[in-house]
Amino acid sequence: MAWAWSGAVTSNSARVVARVATGITQARLVITPERAGATSRTQPATGYARPDAHSVIAFPIANLEQATRYRYRVETPDSPGLEGRFRTYGNGPFSFRLAFASCASTASNHVVFDAIREKAPDLFVHMGDFHYLNIGRNDPDAFRRAYDRVLDSRRQSALYRATPIAYVYDDHDFGSDNADGTARSRSAATGVYRERVPHYPLVEGNDGTIQQAFSIGRVRLIITDTRAARSPVDAPIDRRTMLGAAQLAWFEGELIKARDAPLVVWINTVPWITSSNERTIEGWAPYARERTRIADHIDGLGLTSRIVMLSGDGHMAAIDDGSHSAYMSSRQDNTRGFVVAHGAPMDRWPRTKGGPYSHGVSRRNHQFGLLDVKDSGSALDVTVSARNARGDVIPGLELVLRCEKSVCAVTR
Ligand SMILES: [Fe+2]
Repeated sequence: MAWAWSGAVTSNSARVVARVATGITQARLVITPERAGATSRTQPATGYARPDAHSVIAFPIANLEQATRYRYRVETPDSPGLEGRFRTYGNGPFSFRLAFASCASTASNHVVFDAIREKAPDLFVHMGDFHYLNIGRNDPDAFRRAYDRVLDSRRQSALYRATPIAYVYDDHDFGSDNADGTARSRSAATGVYRERVPHYPLVEGNDGTIQQAFSIGRVRLIITDTRAARSPVDAPIDRRTMLGAAQLAWFEGELIKARDAPLVVWINTVPWITSSNERTIEGWAPYARERTRIADHIDGLGLTSRIVMLSGDGHMAAIDDGSHSAYMSSRQDNTRGFVVAHGAPMDRWPRTKGGPYSHGVSRRNHQFGLLDVKDSGSALDVTVSARNARGDVIPGLELVLRCEKSVCAVTR
């Protein structure tokens, strides 16, 4: 047995993807609710399923109970296999915790992965730089080997089996440094992602990009793909795009659908705030026209205060309470944007990008973020914090939002 991880969790479904040892031709999933007297079921219901030519097998799981903890085991006729677990989300008001982070040297086995696991999040949002192999060529086998290397790492493997994942690549795990949609690795990166990552439904026919939207309780989460449709930073300004036309239209539609959600979490890998230097080629600065268009759309929907953005890319932890994130065209000096939180790097040398950030920047290694949502049914109390390798709050980097009656306000 090589590795297993879960994702695409909803209130009644999930997906497990596993790689079995080379040469194994049969595998099945055993799934059991974590409560006394619960009975297991297997998938397929009888017999075994067949891994693909690369020993990978995906198990879509349906008909689960909401807000229920499950244990799963991928087994073969000759081996008990690997175990993992997840909790389905609740319909309606549902309290949960997610961890978010990016950036770890290839196959890192750092204790920060234990610290994330010990926080027992319902979901781990990995925002890219899953490895630093910089595969700049159209070589699917190189991407397959990259997944194998990372998922074989002991501490990362333990985390990914304990916690379902929502993963989106950034530059180093999509192509080379600062890769964009012209990367030669594009088709291999997006294709092998589809084979090996337990992801939410993708928008097929949409130019290969891997954007996703899903709900946890009453919270809507939207992941955008800021690499596969991005134009080069020096493309003509009127054609320069971060998301690409098709994904941008999708994203604007998803925001319209989310307009009644009490909270929307936008997972955007690269720095949104760049007012410390708008001439930088980092983050959204070169794509400022598209940034303003999105900010205007969010503002027009009355969603600005109800968005929390989670980001990586910069090797730092940082939180902005909205003081510096307003990019709508109508903004005045005191106009507030949405909350922005960076949680990185897990295991990579520190480096600051973008800013400024109202709550400051922690430019250290071995960091991650936590988002805690407590939903009472009438209000959501949302805590965003940045954590060190021991799992402790990094001084100053904690913010509390209260969301009720279609407005979120920073209370601390
Ligand atoms: Fe990175």
